[in-house]
Amino acid sequence: MIKIVYDIRVYREVLKDVIKADDLVVELGCHVGNSTRIISHLAYNGKIIALDKSLESPDRMDSLMKEKSNIEFMKRDVRLHETLEEVFNKIKKCDVLSIDLGGGYHPDTTFKVFFIWSSTLKPRDTIIRNRGLIDFIQSSSANEIIKSKNGWLESSGNDGIPTRLKELGLWSTKI
Ligand SMILES: C[S@@+](CC[C@H](N)C(=O)[O-])C[C@H]1O[C@@H](n2cnc3c(N)ncnc32)[C@H](O)[C@@H]1O
Repeated sequence: MIKIVYDIRVYREVLKDVIKADDLVVELGCHVGNSTRIISHLAYNGKIIALDKSLESPDRMDSLMKEKSNIEFMKRDVRLHETLEEVFNKIKKCDVLSIDLGGGYHPDTTFKVFFIWSSTLKPRDTIIRNRGLIDFIQSSSANEIIKSKNGWLESSGNDGIPTRLKELGLWSTKI
């Protein structure tokens, strides 16, 4: 299932609906760990790999990791191929992919990050926090039915980890 949300409260409610005790969760955009704490509680027998590039993240995530043993924080830019490759080499697959790069803008970047990460890690469920993507899906319609059951797009997700894509380098300086 792929769930798209905007309101942070809805995001956290959806996390509660989706995450199971044994899940391996990859959280892109954990910031200072406010949702990571919730995820860690929900996946109490599982593991969370939480990533963020913010300078505010490391100290706060380090103290959260002292409290919760199932969290691993990585200070990385999730748009970079190297970051995805590093996570892929560590886990190969995940149960839930949770993406919150800032709900209000850059649906293009958010979709690109979703597409590349989900088609590589093949999550059972994906949760994306982004207003522009909700606007797009609710403002558009299609005459053909092309649909996926899991947290990645089956119609285009069978390529495994992409060979080095130049476009996955830093293509936006705004975030
Ligand atoms: C709205 S905050 C996330 C809030 C958090 N999910 C929560 O529930 O408390 C968005 C975060 O995405 C991070 N972010 C944005 N672009 C990123 C990128 N390319 N790589 C890693 N982190 C990114 C920002 O640094 C910021 O901390």
